[in-house]
Amino acid sequence: MKNILVIGATGQIGSELTLELRKRYGNDHVIAGYIPSSMPQGELKASGPSAIADVTDRQSIEVVARQFKVDTIYNLAALLSVVAESRPAMAWKIGIDGLWNVLEVAREYGCAVFTPSSIGSFGVSTPHVKTPQDTIQRPRTMYGVTKVTTELLSDYYFTKYGVDTRAVRFPGIISNVTPPGGGTTDYAVDIYYSAVKGEKFICPLRPDTFMDMMYMPDALHAAISLMEADPARLIHRNAFNIASMSFSPEIIYAEIRKHIPDFEMEYQVDPLKQAIADSWPDSLDDTCAREEWAWKPRYDLETMTVDMLEKLKNKLTK
Ligand code: SER
Repeated sequence: MKNILVIGATGQIGSELTLELRKRYGNDHVIAGYIPSSMPQGELKASGPSAIADVTDRQSIEVVARQFKVDTIYNLAALLSVVAESRPAMAWKIGIDGLWNVLEVAREYGCAVFTPSSIGSFGVSTPHVKTPQDTIQRPRTMYGVTKVTTELLSDYYFTKYGVDTRAVRFPGIISNVTPPGGGTTDYAVDIYYSAVKGEKFICPLRPDTFMDMMYMPDALHAAISLMEADPARLIHRNAFNIASMSFSPEIIYAEIRKHIPDFEMEYQVDPLKQAIADSWPDSLDDTCAREEWAWKPRYDLETMTVDMLEKLKNKLTK
């Protein structure tokens, strides 16, 4: 039986991943790791065990690994791209010093480790359309620097010590549960909230800015199915391109207007966000993920929009 620790369990992805893992492996087998300033609440708190697991404090991770006989760690602690630019030292401390702590505990206790990379691991010199799995990765953001280092360090621990590290490069993740904070792709979540609240949306990116995006259920499915994949089939490990949809602000706006025809949007470009978005791919080629562990997304922009609007209407009118 698996015993799983989710580090960053109260964050954007962690809060939903923890519940999904509990459904699959049993409530008592999935520990919600948190830092004291971000305690689990509600269903996350009530449905299973939680424990302090701070990536910057190796001992705290080790204590949980020992106590709960952890064999798999999902390490989701990170600062997103925009906030990492204003706090680069903290982004490194959490992203890389933190990863080192996780990998050392994993080496000692024999845990498998999932630490996501991102479309942010690419840069201006990367081919932008159908970005290949193996290509140039020279990002100029601190977020990107930490993500490329994450990929390299994770591969290093696999080849040098045999730690079972695996990961995906997440695109912008869209969800109706825990909002993201400080990312470049956040607009694609915020736009749905504005639409449902009947507010005009101020878009921080140019109308033609394409980026890869994914609905949360597909992102969770990707992480879990990669960790369950037969290792003999994995040629790559850290980290796989995955893709399900690529759109620009004008395309998502038009999609939402099919449901809310009087929804309004205005552009006020944020130069930092625009520069980051321009340096990232327009779309990823995820052939390797499809071939090596049968990755297949379920949602596209149309079906995601229907679900997002319905869920947010329920949530915001309660
Ligand atoms: N969602 C992230 C960001 O915008 C990218 O992976 O920073």
